[in-house]
Amino acid sequence: MSHLIAPSVLSCDFANIQRDVEMINNSTADWFHVDVMDGVFVPNISFGFPVIKAIKKHANKPLDVHLMIENADQYVEEFAKSGADVLTVHFEASRHLHRTVQLIKSHGMKAGVALNPHTTVDVLKDVIQDLDLVLIMSVNPGFGGQKFISNAINKVKETKALISAKGGNALIEVDGGVNLDTGKELVEAGADVLVAGSFVFGSDSPKDTIAALKAL
Ligand code: DX5
Ligand code: ZN
Repeated sequence: MSHLIAPSVLSCDFANIQRDVEMINNSTADWFHVDVMDGVFVPNISFGFPVIKAIKKHANKPLDVHLMIENADQYVEEFAKSGADVLTVHFEASRHLHRTVQLIKSHGMKAGVALNPHTTVDVLKDVIQDLDLVLIMSVNPGFGGQKFISNAINKVKETKALISAKGGNALIEVDGGVNLDTGKELVEAGADVLVAGSFVFGSDSPKDTIAALKAL
């Protein structure tokens, strides 16, 4: 399988959200990456259910929802109703991760777990077989447009080794500072999904940039 591209709508023009969603529909992107921030787990607030529902109304590709929030369990059902197809919670914000993963799946969504740059891959050893996705953060979560932390490359390799040692089938996604250079290294290291926000939406032709990332 060739790697997947998930443009992050955090960097889109919110005054023209339908236009940007249609650009992604008409591109070679595979998923919509949707960042939800609560101002508690991360020092920023993005958007919530009404915006996700608005994206879902126009999107013709899966919604990959990345929760950067505390108390995710409380909102899992509402994210399912809002149209999330993949729902990812942060390891650092989860007290009963195994339960949260089962809860996500019980609502018909794929379950992902995100790791901050300081969190070692080993913490997933006893839950990896239950996961559909591991999200390696290559920046500290909270903002688009930050510099790539290159240790993420090692973490992709470690995650790949863990998945094959345990016989899991989780996809490995990387988020933060992805461009053509870092993206190439990540794909070579075994990343299955590349998220890109500012690199896509800050370019002259977002659609061509998505195609370039897809062609890596
Ligand atoms: C950061 C978000 C990312 C962000 C990536 O907390 O999780 O998805 O949109 O933005 P870039 O690609 O600009 O680093
Ligand atoms: Zn994200």
